[in-house]
Amino acid sequence: RDSINISKRVLQWFDHSGRKDLPWQQAINPYRVWVSEIMLQQTQVSTVIPYFQRFMEELPTVEALAAASEDQVLHLWTGLGYYSRARNLHKTAQLVCAEHQGEFPNTVAGLSELPGIGRSTAGAIVSIAFQLPAAILDGNVKRVLARFHAIEGWPGQTAVLKNLWQVAEAHAPRQRVADYSQAMMDLGATLCTRSKPACALCPLKKDCIAHADGTELQFPGKKPK
Ligand code: ADE
Repeated sequence: RDSINISKRVLQWFDHSGRKDLPWQQAINPYRVWVSEIMLQQTQVSTVIPYFQRFMEELPTVEALAAASEDQVLHLWTGLGYYSRARNLHKTAQLVCAEHQGEFPNTVAGLSELPGIGRSTAGAIVSIAFQLPAAILDGNVKRVLARFHAIEGWPGQTAVLKNLWQVAEAHAPRQRVADYSQAMMDLGATLCTRSKPACALCPLKKDCIAHADGTELQFPGKKPK
């Protein structure tokens, strides 16, 4: 491929500036990574932390979650919002126990068949929990890659999304895949922010096309009206 190897610089940045003490980064297993990724889909890290800790205290395994009542699961979710996430979580735990002997699939294709798990969440679970190569593309990573490559257009459009996935896959390393996934999410959440990107601190500054052009705030493109 002709594109620049960003993973080395991203990983070096992660070594000194990435978050390594989040609760779901301790005692890593597929269940904990899955629950944390579902909570983090539409909710910020600082809000998720106490919910994640309480959830793990009460339902520490996929078997415990599968056996819980829907009421208990919804009660643990109260305040996080988007309650379909909690119902899908419960349903998926029951499926994993009934059809996969309590073991999560370790592939993007296998995980994507489960309720509430899309391609990016599947990639996060494969890379972070199983340490197998897989790309992620959540909202934060879309912004990093759209800026770095100056990918125009709204990511809600199929062609734009396809372009973003293609570069996400091309950049994903074979080594340190878990740290790389976490690093890209951290970069988007903490430096490459929507309205005030801290480009001076960014490990990708020297090859970022949007930065070179001074057009950071134009990416990712907005929904056409
Ligand atoms: N957002 C989605 N997944 C995340 C993670 N693993 N860490 C921080 N923010 C996230």
